[in-house]
Amino acid sequence: MYTLTKLLEGKHEVYAIFHGWRGILDKEVRRVRSKDLIDTAFTGGTFIRTSRTNPPFKDETRAETFAKNLRELGLDVIVAIGGDDTLSAAAQTQARGGLANVVGIPKTIDNDVYGTDYTIGFDTAVNEAIRVTESFKTTLVSHERVGVVEVMGREAGWIALFTGLATMADFVLIPEKPVNWDIVANRVKEVYKDRRWALIVVSEGIKEYGGPKDEFGHSRLGGVGNELAQYIEKVTGIETRAVIPGHIIRGGAPPTVFDRVLAVRFATEAFNAIESGDFGKMVAYRGGGDIVRVPITEVLGKNRLVSGYWMKLYETYWGGT
Ligand code: F6P
Repeated sequence: MYTLTKLLEGKHEVYAIFHGWRGILDKEVRRVRSKDLIDTAFTGGTFIRTSRTNPPFKDETRAETFAKNLRELGLDVIVAIGGDDTLSAAAQTQARGGLANVVGIPKTIDNDVYGTDYTIGFDTAVNEAIRVTESFKTTLVSHERVGVVEVMGREAGWIALFTGLATMADFVLIPEKPVNWDIVANRVKEVYKDRRWALIVVSEGIKEYGGPKDEFGHSRLGGVGNELAQYIEKVTGIETRAVIPGHIIRGGAPPTVFDRVLAVRFATEAFNAIESGDFGKMVAYRGGGDIVRVPITEVLGKNRLVSGYWMKLYETYWGGT
């Protein structure tokens, strides 16, 4: 947001919409200048705060308030920075003829936005997950235990997969590849015989426990790591502990160089899209590292899940057991 504001402010007035889409419904919109943003530019979280408010176009009253407020606010372009929920709402806003012009920037630790290979925040979150996992490993080795690390990511196993690859975990469980837990327990037994410790990484999204859903229809996830640890301990008879870093990986550490440069590159491309009037697009990272623009409607209602090359890599280490 800092970089984009810096690029835009010479020619345009920049306003921050606080609390995501809720800021339109509440008209919580304030002028910002890059000098106000510099102090939080290289930290996690978001200076303009966030919410899980969905401007559901299904709810006519809310849709009317949303449209009316947008007209009254007189915003020429909305730059939507967020994950699939934020960007899907942006795509619907663009599609609703003339409500607003939008440009999307993918940003979520989950790395599950359709149309881009990387999202801002993923790299930093995975680095934090690796740090926690390595730190846990100290106890696993010295106390000769089995450890289960549960990481976030919702329906997508990217954080678990990358954490597992980067620490060479003995097993990784991801939502895209359901596996019988006995297979995991057998792998643990096998590894433990030789080495007397073992490490498992599990994605929170392999199991839903129900409970209330947010406005985008997502249940709160988390907790499967404990259940898996208890199962492994019961089946193998080996002491097994779980660690659930949860939100810890979303904050704390300063962004990695990859995320910083990605944010600058996305901001630059979003600026170029705005200047050339190329609206209804999301900036994206593709293949060898090119930054491109894709129609934001591509993102609508879709998730990018572990598949193709990445699934093959997964299977090389944790498939076929
Ligand atoms: O979408 C990002 C994410 O961190 C998911 O990985 C996780 O399931 C969810 O948000 C947690 O959200 P909340 O803090 O609202 O429960």
